[in-house]
Amino acid sequence: MKAISLYQKGNHQWLCFGRDPERDEKIIDTNQYMIINNGQSIILDPGGIELFSQMLTSVLRYTSLEEITALFASHQDPDIISSLGLWDQCLPKAKLYSPYIWESFLAHFGMSNIQFEGIPDEGCDFQLGNVKLQFVPAHYLHSSGNFNVYDKEAKILMSGDVGAALDKDDAPFFVEDFDAHIPKMEFFHRRWMPSNKAKDDWISSIRKLDIEIMAPQHGGLFKGDMVNKFLNWFEKLDVGVAQNK
Ligand SMILES: [Fe+2]
Ligand SMILES: [Fe+2]
Repeated sequence: MKAISLYQKGNHQWLCFGRDPERDEKIIDTNQYMIINNGQSIILDPGGIELFSQMLTSVLRYTSLEEITALFASHQDPDIISSLGLWDQCLPKAKLYSPYIWESFLAHFGMSNIQFEGIPDEGCDFQLGNVKLQFVPAHYLHSSGNFNVYDKEAKILMSGDVGAALDKDDAPFFVEDFDAHIPKMEFFHRRWMPSNKAKDDWISSIRKLDIEIMAPQHGGLFKGDMVNKFLNWFEKLDVGVAQNK
């Protein structure tokens, strides 16, 4: 599994883990993120059970088990958090932050030590070390209870499945050619995003944020101009359409 640093200033760091060459081809490739600040770490969308050991090895190059104080699951999908039962056995101090509606579902992945902290529908702030993060509502994009994570200082929005693309394992971490990237995103967004209204509400709230990097859970990350290109493209896309690929 590869790792890149998205941001580093003092003891505030963002890392992205992904492009796992060992994954089974039937398993969708995922990006996992970790934010470190002042001796505390949060892992965002820690991933599926199958990549737990690679993730554990990767994150321990930057942090320790004691310092991982939080996990965040944007929603309930297995590619997001089916590793929960394994993290549960090795993190002595962590809490899981996730939409409150998913508590009794996520418990099926195994959650006997980790404490569940339900995020209310309207979102909330989260303090990690000295930095304040925001859990930003993204309901119905695609899950009925779903959040993004925004870091105002780093200007990074972790957008979960919004902006997701199905790409090759050796694809670059950042989108380089937006038009060439569209076919990798289009089916996923039309089929998996159920509501044009939810999409429009999300776009108008996200346009108010100062974003340098938009970081989805699958495929390339959007940087600089590419963020606006994505928002403009998504605005015009008709979603909630069940059609073949
Ligand atoms: Fe999902
Ligand atoms: Fe996903």
